[in-house]
Amino acid sequence: MARSELVEHLNKALSYELAAVIQYSQHSYLITGPDREVFKDWFRDQAEEAQDHAETLGDKIVALGGIPSVEPAMIRQSTELKEMLKQDLELEREALTVYMAAWAACDDNDLPQKFWLEGQISDEQMHVEELEKLTSERTARVNSEKIVLKEI
Ligand SMILES: [Fe+2]
Ligand SMILES: [Fe+2]
Repeated sequence: MARSELVEHLNKALSYELAAVIQYSQHSYLITGPDREVFKDWFRDQAEEAQDHAETLGDKIVALGGIPSVEPAMIRQSTELKEMLKQDLELEREALTVYMAAWAACDDNDLPQKFWLEGQISDEQMHVEELEKLTSERTARVNSEKIVLKEI
């Protein structure tokens, strides 16, 4: 795969990480009511992780001879928690898709980049799964027959 093509994919990923820094930060500022007690810090932790990912991508893009993007992807805004989490899920899914496209475009000469991308993809997949749980798109399937009630 041409280095320029890989850099293009990584720059798209960077634009999603930059959007995530801004979107999660704004959600942390806007969250109010009892949910603020938990979600202010949760949103800020996600913003910090996106910042770490953005820095890794920026360093990687320069290592590959490219110029890191300064353009964030689309930023979604809301003042309501459920809507915020849905917006974050959409953003995480988009970022995951871009990281996977970069991985799929690597050939055998790009194995080190491929291995690095697998770590990133694993992180983004966890973000998607957590947000699916938080938005109730993924529910635990409990086999009631396996629950044993003990009498005291
Ligand atoms: Fe990320
Ligand atoms: Fe993420």
